[in-house]
Amino acid sequence: MRAPHLLPALLILAACVPGQAPTPPSSGKADFTELCAPCHGGSAKGDGELAKTLAHPPADLKGLSSRHGGVFPMAYVMSKIWGYSHGEAPSALMPKFAPLMEGPTVLVDTGDGIMTPTPLRLVEIAAYLETVQE
Ligand code: HEC
Repeated sequence: MRAPHLLPALLILAACVPGQAPTPPSSGKADFTELCAPCHGGSAKGDGELAKTLAHPPADLKGLSSRHGGVFPMAYVMSKIWGYSHGEAPSALMPKFAPLMEGPTVLVDTGDGIMTPTPLRLVEIAAYLETVQE
């Protein structure tokens, strides 16, 4: 068996270990750089190259935890990205988010105590953001 085929399965297994976040995020950083950094900036501070062209400034994503009582708002972040992929934010960039909702899912407790099948890439991008909180 060739090794590259094992990687997705290993990621899913790693992500399914009870009580553990799927760390380290494998493609979360790459997805962020490609899809989010144009507006939110490579540092996630909201200073991407498109920021100046937007009517509403992109949020400082490093301050998510501090704006939510010191706790990273995992469910809020995932629902925000999910909303983007369903056309809630009008931008030509948003259709590119659809692949984040496809592919393998992992079981995640998003705060209600219920393990919910959630797209792996969505979980990974949110997990990456958690690592850049200040
Ligand atoms: C076209 C520019 C643009 C892109 C691309 C973009 N965002 Fe945003 N984002 C915004 C703007 C503008 C806001 C602030 C307005 C709002 O909340 O809708 C925002 C707000 C947010 C918020 C809410 C922050 C808060 O404190 O309420 C999150 C979370 C977020 N973005 C995550 C992401 C992620 C993750 C990606 C990549 C998958 C992404 N965004 C891509 C422009 C963008």
